[in-house]
Amino acid sequence: MTAPADFARCKACHGWDGLGSMGSYANRTGVSSGAASRPDVDSTNVRTAALSLTHQQLFDLIARPDGRPMNSSDSRHPEYASFLTEGQVWNLVKFIREEWINPNDLYDLSVTGAAMHYEYSVANGWALVSPTMTYTNIGANGDKVNGQAVYDAACAVCHGADGKTSPPGGTQSIGQFTRAKPYEAWFKIKFGEPGKMNPGLVTDTTDMIDLYAALADATLFPNL
Ligand code: HEC
Ligand code: HEC
Repeated sequence: MTAPADFARCKACHGWDGLGSMGSYANRTGVSSGAASRPDVDSTNVRTAALSLTHQQLFDLIARPDGRPMNSSDSRHPEYASFLTEGQVWNLVKFIREEWINPNDLYDLSVTGAAMHYEYSVANGWALVSPTMTYTNIGANGDKVNGQAVYDAACAVCHGADGKTSPPGGTQSIGQFTRAKPYEAWFKIKFGEPGKMNPGLVTDTTDMIDLYAALADATLFPNL
C-alpha cells in the first residue's frame, strides 16, 4: 500500500495528525512566515472531514478541489487528480478513514498564546510570534509493561534496550523523539521510514498506546 508514502505530500499542509495549524503544526512556519520552501499549514480539520463525509465526497475533495493547480509554494489545495492515479487517491481515502490513529488516544496537546503571526511593534522592526505547544499524557491510557514487551520484541534489535542506539540524526533517543514529537513517532513506527525502518512493526492501536506509555517513561527510555 502506497498511501502512507502518498500522505507524506499531505502532511506539509495538514500535519501528521490531520489537524494542521489547529494541532501539532500550530507553530510550523510556511511561505507567509519566513520559510519560502514550504506551504503554509492549513487550519482545515481533515480528521473531522474524513469521519463525516462519504468515501466519494472525500475522494472528490482530494482528487479535484475546483481544479486548482498544484503549486507547493502557495497554500491552496492541489488538484491531485493530475498527479495521483485514481487508485492512489482511493488508497488515501481508505488510509485517512481507517489507518489514522486518533491523537487523543496517544497524547494531549495544548496550544497556548496567540496564533503564529508577525509582530511589528518590537525594537528590531518585527518578530515572529508562535504559540507554545505542550504535550502531556503521552501514552497515559497505556500499559507500560506490555509496551516494554512490544519494544523488546520489535525495536530493541536496532535501537538498543534503552532506545539510545541508531537515534534520529544522532540528536535524540527514541524515547526523547517520541516525547518531543508524539504526533510523528506513531506514524513512522506504524508505516516505517523508506529505506530505514520497515512498515508494520506495530499495527495494533492498543499496542501503540502501550508502546507510548513505555516510551514516555524517561527512566526506561532516557534522553541521549
Ligand atoms: C499546499 C497545501 C496542501 C496540501 C499539500 C494538501 N492540502 Fe488538503 N487542503 C489544503 C487547504 C488550504 C484546504 C482548505 C480547503 C481548500 O482549499 O480546498 C484543504 C482541504 C482538504 C480537505 C477538505 C477538508 C474539508 O473539511 O473540506 C481534504 C479532505 C484534504 N485537504 C485532503 C488532503 C490530502 C489527502 C492531501 C494529500 C494528498 C492534501 N489534502 C494535501 C491544503 C493542502
Ligand atoms: C531494522 C532496524 C530498525 C527497527 C527494527 C526499528 N527501527 Fe526505528 N528507525 C531505524 C532507522 C534506521 C531509523 C532512521 C533514523 C534516522 O532517520 O536517522 C529509525 C527511525 C525511528 C524513529 C523516528 C526518528 C526520526 O528522526 O524520524 C522512531 C520514533 C523509531 N525509529 C522508533 C522505532 C520503534 C518504536 C521501533 C519498534 C516498534 C523501531 N523504531 C524499530 C531502524 C529501526
